Formats: sequence, structure tokens, C-alpha cells
Amino acid sequence: IPVEDFDLVIFGSTGDLARRKIFPGLYRRFIAGQFPQGAQIIGAARTQQDTAAFRDEMRKAIVEFAGNPGKDAAKVEEFLQRLTYVSVDARGTTGWEELHEHMREGVVHAFYFSVAPALFGDIAQRLSQYGMADDDSRIVVEKPFGRDLVSARELNATLARHFREDQIYRIDHYLGKETVQNLMAVRFANILFEPLWNAQYVDHVQITVAETVGVAGRGEYYDQSGAIRDMVQNHMMQLLCLTAMEPPYHFDPNAVRDEKLKVIRALEPLEPDDIVRGQYLAGPDGPGYVEDVEHPDSRTESFVALKVRISNWRWQGTPFYLRTGKRLRARTSEIVITFKDPPHSIFDDDGVSPANQLVIKLQPNEGMHLTMMIKEPGPGGMRLVQVPLDMSFADALGANGTDMPDAYERLIMDVIRGNQTLFMRGDEVEAAWAWTDPIISGWEQSTRSPEPYDAGSSGPEEALRLLHRDDRRWREIRP
Ligand code: BG6
Repeated sequence: IPVEDFDLVIFGSTGDLARRKIFPGLYRRFIAGQFPQGAQIIGAARTQQDTAAFRDEMRKAIVEFAGNPGKDAAKVEEFLQRLTYVSVDARGTTGWEELHEHMREGVVHAFYFSVAPALFGDIAQRLSQYGMADDDSRIVVEKPFGRDLVSARELNATLARHFREDQIYRIDHYLGKETVQNLMAVRFANILFEPLWNAQYVDHVQITVAETVGVAGRGEYYDQSGAIRDMVQNHMMQLLCLTAMEPPYHFDPNAVRDEKLKVIRALEPLEPDDIVRGQYLAGPDGPGYVEDVEHPDSRTESFVALKVRISNWRWQGTPFYLRTGKRLRARTSEIVITFKDPPHSIFDDDGVSPANQLVIKLQPNEGMHLTMMIKEPGPGGMRLVQVPLDMSFADALGANGTDMPDAYERLIMDVIRGNQTLFMRGDEVEAAWAWTDPIISGWEQSTRSPEPYDAGSSGPEEALRLLHRDDRRWREIRP
């Protein structure tokens, strides 16, 4: 789909996200030929510097973070010509008029708020005041979108004073991941799975997002958030929704988001027994959580496992187990659909239980694996063996399967195209907080400490028990 000509302003353009993700992502889209002739990017931040100094910074960022294409010096220079810098004070008057002068008439105007949420209101207000919030302009905001329902509502209300909902793009970068979008393709472009995708045939679902990194370097933010705010309310919730939702009538922004919202609204409140929190201990290759955040008494969780129930026709009786954590054995994100056993076995040898498991591997080594029972070769009678039906996207798609665009590349271009399908709607964010708030407040009122776990392990023992008590087990965390 061709991209219309655009002026894109990045507030917070000297920040970490801009350097690591936004500008390298834009560069990659630029060399893919997606920038119309006049398209320009304006970096805005408080730092006093000129465009030349800003371009120098971005040159370094692209070389470091844009992968191989970042090594093409001539292309990088060409891209840098599209960049301008304006020093802007979000809470003052500096820079706003100059910014306005850079904006061209008749092109798409997009404003990326890569800044602390406390500044969202100030920036939105100044965009209006200086005449930059026109009917077609778009704003992009990042998580954390609030820290509870009340603050998320306030943020929504603040933005709504200056922009309509269809102008607001709330990023959850998990939705920009190729394999996450693939989840919808797999479910709704094939006949094979959907008839079985319900409580009658699915025993349970596991969603794991395991990381090997700790929180060193961002302890101040993380210790105020913990895994529930940092990962569950947003990324895990999105994975849950895409796995559990009904087929939308069309792949259209509101149709998709309506279905996701229905899932969130159908989530049952959690019982304390359905929640396991953990905190990593020091290990041979790194300090423990409390040292990383420099808060010896911290009760913030770096790991959480949940047993989630969805009260609707499709999923009544099929639990969804979610877990995510830092400093675990391997970096892996996957969704595992475990199907029920056949109702009756005609073989004396029952084989392995469960027979069929569909693993959708989101990262790394993106792909899908389905376990199946077949006959073990040999004359010894009908003995069954479980084998995988494997598909790695890299093998199946050749080069296209290994060069997955980064989530931000896709999402920023969707903003310019005006496509909100992969962005969270205000009511969706609020519904997700409404479900997470009691989990957080229940914890705040309790006196329990998080369960300690060894760095490099699969998380605390209690998380294993969460499934054992239901006679189930987690799939092993492996790369
Ligand atoms: C971010 C969280 O939103 O997602 C981080 O704040 C987390 O704590 C990251 O590490 C995980 O993203 P990815 O793309 O590396 O899986």
C-alpha cells in the first residue's frame, strides 16, 4: 500500500527508544523505498542542539541498531538529509512556532510522543494551541499507558480534549511483531484449526514470554511496575486476546478491536491461588533483583504466572496459563495450544499424552510445531510414537522468513497509512487495567513476599505447581 507524503515529528527524539528503535526502523523503511519524495522527520526534544549535531547522533544510532543496512554509509547519509531538529520545551513556549514553520501543508502530520506520560497532556495541548492539531493529524503514544484504571482514564480524557479516538495510535509493540500478526493469519486463513479452537477440543492454553535479561539499568521504572504492569496488562493481554477472540467479520481496525475487547471483558477476576509472583536471586552471572533495582526490601515481581479463565461459550472450562519473567533460562515467547486426548483409544498402547500440541513460536526461531502420534516403524505391532510436524518460517519462507521487520517499522508506517488495526483502542486499555487492578491491589494489601527463583531457571517452584495441581505441566522453557 503506497504511503502518503508525511511530516513526522518525534518528541523525545534524544531518548533511548528513539535511538534504538524509532530512527533505525524509519531508516529501514526509507531504504525499502517507502518514503515519498518530500517526507521528512523532525526530531524534537529539550536538548539544545542543531540539526547537524542531531544527524550525527542518529548516524551513530543507525550504524549501531539498524542491522546490516545500517552499514551502507551512502544510504544513511541520504536518510539523514530527511532529518531536522527543533529544540522544544514541552511545558514552555520554546520551539513551538519553529516546529510549526517546518510543517508542510497538505501532507499527513504525525506526532510521536516518545516521552513520559506526564508530558502527554502538555504536548497535546500545545499542538492544539499552535495550530498543529488539525483534523487529520495523528498522535502516537507509548506504554506505559497509565499505571491503573484511574490514570489510564485520565490519560484518555486528556488526549480526547485535543484528538479524536481515530487520531490516537497507542502502541503495543507486540502487535507489530510479524509472528503475532501471523497468529491471526493462522487462525482465520485456514479451516484446519478453527473448528477445534474451543473448550470442547482444547484442554488448555499456555502463553509464555520468557526473557534472559534482568532489569539492571531500568530499575527505577521497573520497580514501580513489576511484571504485571510491564508485561501482563499489555503484551500478554494482547497475545491472550488474539488467541482467544472470535473471528472478526473483517480485518478492519474496529472489527478486530471489538473482538479483543470482548475477550478482556469476559476474563474472570483472579483468585489469590491463581497467581504466583517471583523475584530472581543473584546467580553466577549477575546480581539479584533487589540489587538490580537498589531496593533491598522490594516486593516487586520480576516473574508472574497466572491461571486465567474466560467466561464465554467458546472457552468455558479451558484455562489459559500465562507466565512471563526476567532472568529465566532462555529467551522465548510462545503460545501452546494443548488439545484433548481422542475420546476413545483403539490401540492398546496409548502413546504419550497429550497427543496433539500446537506450538506457535513467536520469537526467536519463529515458526509452528504440531505434535502428532504416528506408528513407530517396525514389525513389533502397533506402537505409537509422538513426532513433531515442524515449520520454521525461515525454512518455509526462505530469506523472507529470516528478515522479519522490527515491530516499530511496521507500526510507524501503519500510522502514516492511517491503519489502526494493530493499535490499542482507549476502551481496550481501560478494560485491561480494570482486570489487572484487583490483582495489583490484592498484592499490595497482602504481606507475602514474592517467591525467590534462581537466575537461569524456569521461575519459582510455585509456578510449576500452578499446573501440577491441575495435572498439567508447562512446556519447557528453551530457546
Ligand atoms: C517492554 C518491556 O515493553 O517489552 C520490557 O518494558 C521487555 O521489560 C520488552 O523486556 C520485551 O520486548 P521484546 O520485543 O524484547 O520481547
